[in-house]
Amino acid sequence: MSITTIAPVLRGAYLDRHGVPVIVTLVDDAAGAALSVEAASLEALPGALAGSDLPLPAEFTVDIAGQAYSFSIETLGDVTALPDAKSPEARSASFRSDVVAGKVAVVTGGAQGFGAEIVHGLVDSGAFVYIADLNIDGATALSEELGADRTAAIKVNVGDEDSVAAMAEEIARRTGGLDLVVSNAGVVRAGSVLEQELKDFAFTTDINYTAFFLVTKHLGGLLAAQHSTAPGWMTDIIQINSKSGLVGSNKNGAYAGSKFGGIGLVQSFALEMVEHGVKVNAICPGNFYDGPLWSDPDRGLFVQYLRSGKVPGATTIDEVREFYEAKVPLRRGTYGADVMRAVYYIVEQSYETGQAIPVTGGQVMLSS
Ligand SMILES: NC(=O)c1ccc[n+]([C@@H]2O[C@H](COP(=O)([O-])OP(=O)(O)OC[C@H]3O[C@@H](n4cnc5c(N)ncnc54)[C@H](O)[C@@H]3O)[C@@H](O)[C@H]2O)c1
Repeated sequence: MSITTIAPVLRGAYLDRHGVPVIVTLVDDAAGAALSVEAASLEALPGALAGSDLPLPAEFTVDIAGQAYSFSIETLGDVTALPDAKSPEARSASFRSDVVAGKVAVVTGGAQGFGAEIVHGLVDSGAFVYIADLNIDGATALSEELGADRTAAIKVNVGDEDSVAAMAEEIARRTGGLDLVVSNAGVVRAGSVLEQELKDFAFTTDINYTAFFLVTKHLGGLLAAQHSTAPGWMTDIIQINSKSGLVGSNKNGAYAGSKFGGIGLVQSFALEMVEHGVKVNAICPGNFYDGPLWSDPDRGLFVQYLRSGKVPGATTIDEVREFYEAKVPLRRGTYGADVMRAVYYIVEQSYETGQAIPVTGGQVMLSS
C-alpha cells in the first residue's frame, strides 16, 4: 500500500462530502520511504475521515501509523454539483456544459492527433488534464501552451507496466485521484498477413490491446480506491478505439484485431468495474483526415497512398483525400469535436456502460 491508496481514499471522502471534484495534492514529501505503509494501518482511515468535517479549501493532515501526511485540498474555480439522475433538473440540457468542469482527467497519447484534440476540449470545458505521452517534449509543449494550472505533462510508455504504475503514483501525489481516463495512445503497423513480421504484429497488439489492460489495472485501481470512500461518485474509463474495431480492415489485421480485442476488454472491464462506480466505454472514430496520421506532408497516409498508387488514377493529395471522403455517408473525415461530443455523452450518461460508440459519419452502422 502506498500513496496510490492513501490519497484517493482522502479524495473520495471529499467527493462524498462535498459532491464536487477536488484537487488533493501531497504537500509534505518528507514522508519518503514511509509513503509505503502496511495495508492494516490504512483500515482506520475511512472511519477517521467520516468523523472529520473535511473543510474545503484546506490543508488537511491524515495520521497513519504515527506518520503525518499533509495534503492541500482545493477546487478548480467555482465548481457546482451536477444534479442526480433521479432529480427533475437532470432532464434539462443546461448542466451539460459543466459535465467535466473541475474534474481531473488523463489522456494517454495526448501530445498530438486525437489525443491533443481531447486535451484541448477538456481544458476548454474546465477540467485539469494530464497529458500522458511517450513524446514528453510534445506533451510539455502542449502543457505550456494550455497552462500549468490546467495541465501537467507526464512521460509514460503505456506498453510498460512499471511506467504505467509510476504514472498512477504521480497522479495520486499531484491530484489525489482522478475522474476520467481516456486511453487514446495507439499505433498502426499495416501489412499483409502473408508478409507482416511478428514483431510488428506484436508491437501493435502491445500498444493498442495489452496497454489498455495496464492502464485500466493501475488507473482503475486509483478509481476503485477513491470509490471506497465515495460510493455515489461515478467515474469513467474511455478507450479510443476505431471503426476498425467494428469491421475488418484489409491488410491491416494487426490493427483491426487489436481494436476488436479492445472492445472485448471494454465489455469485460465494464462488468467488473461497475462495482467500483467506474463506467468503461469505447469510442470508435472514423478516419481523422486532418490529423498527422493522414495529413503529415512527409509521412502521412495521404502522401504515402499517392506515392504508392493505392488510389487508382489519383495524381494529387486532394484526389486521394476525396477518394476516402467519398466512402463516408456524411462526406468528411472525423473531427476532434465529433469525438468530444461522444466523450461528453459518456461522462454525462449515468446509465450506460460497456458500449462501443461509433463516430464515423455513418461509415460503420451497428448491427448487433
Ligand atoms: N487517426 C485516425 O484516423 C484514427 C481513426 C480511428 C481511431 N484512431 C485511434 O485514435 C487514437 C489516436 O490516434 P492518432 O491518429 O491521433 O495517433 P497519433 O499517431 O497522431 O498520436 C498518437 C500519440 O500517442 C503517443 N504514443 C504512441 N505510443 C505510445 C506509448 N507506447 N505510450 C504513450 N504514448 C504513446 C504518440 O507519441 C502520439 O503523441 C489511436 O488509438 C488510434 O488507433 C485514429
